[in-house]
Amino acid sequence: MKNLLSVDDLDVGTVQQIFATAADMHDVQRREVKKLPALRGRTVVNLFFEDSTRTRSSFEIAGKWLSADVINISAKGSSTSKGESLRDTVMTVCAMGVDGLVIRHSASGAAHQVSQWVDAAVVNAGDGMHEHPTQALLDAYTLQQRLGSLEGRHVAIVGDLTHSRVFRSNVKLLGMLGAEVTVVAPPTLMPSGIGPWAESAGFHTSYDVDEVLPTADAVMMLRVQRERMSGGYFPTSREYTVGYGLTRDRLAVLGPDVPICHPGPMNRGLEIAADAADAAQSVILDQVSSGLAVRMAVLYHLLAGEETSA
Ligand code: NCD
Repeated sequence: MKNLLSVDDLDVGTVQQIFATAADMHDVQRREVKKLPALRGRTVVNLFFEDSTRTRSSFEIAGKWLSADVINISAKGSSTSKGESLRDTVMTVCAMGVDGLVIRHSASGAAHQVSQWVDAAVVNAGDGMHEHPTQALLDAYTLQQRLGSLEGRHVAIVGDLTHSRVFRSNVKLLGMLGAEVTVVAPPTLMPSGIGPWAESAGFHTSYDVDEVLPTADAVMMLRVQRERMSGGYFPTSREYTVGYGLTRDRLAVLGPDVPICHPGPMNRGLEIAADAADAAQSVILDQVSSGLAVRMAVLYHLLAGEETSA
């Protein structure tokens, strides 16, 4: 594997290898001194053209704990705001001798395009509404830690599916790991053309969250992505919450051991109630710490590990 652009770059063997490395990295995270020498002398650039808190900082810490030199470039404060093209920015950065490029961009396909231009390993940290493969890896890793094997486990993914790259990467990866996935959204936030995709990929779709939750072994709530919405996708916030939010009443329907995930950032009170976000069964902060371990593992496999070509 040279790049990680999509879940399509992975197979089960590679995923389990990444998870095994992530488990070792998780142990490093618990040490007082968290540095490993694995990527000493390597340079990783985080190129973030969209806002981010956890993904950017977790890639930054992951690189640093592996002893890589890490720099961050964001659209605001870079020459992009002076009108420089993506290609010119990327080529400029790579002319400095970069080994790894972690990119987030609002255009679907941006990471793939960048990988055609450069020799550096490219990691897609979110491209528009397309994919976010390390998020799917950290979600699956977190769920495996809680549930054991995901084979035959029922995972409900609920929320703004239309705008979600997290959902698109997750249905692929969870399906690959044998989970039964049901995706739930109001009709206006269900991606058009999902029917044939669901049929060929073997996941289910529903408009009725109350029908799905009682049989869920895990629930993943997704953020309502207002910044990607141009019109009214639902009448009022309250109506969205009543129809699709993980409210206190719906929390009571879930078994006490059913993990609750959310990739963050959360709209508390909209797609998820504070009671659910802060419940004992919430794994939202575990996702963050697992995310760091998984990203360390991904950087290690791409920049230091043996060839794990799919
Ligand atoms: C997600 C993203 O950026 O796609 N967040 C994340 O990476 N933690 C989901 C979101 O923004 O809602």
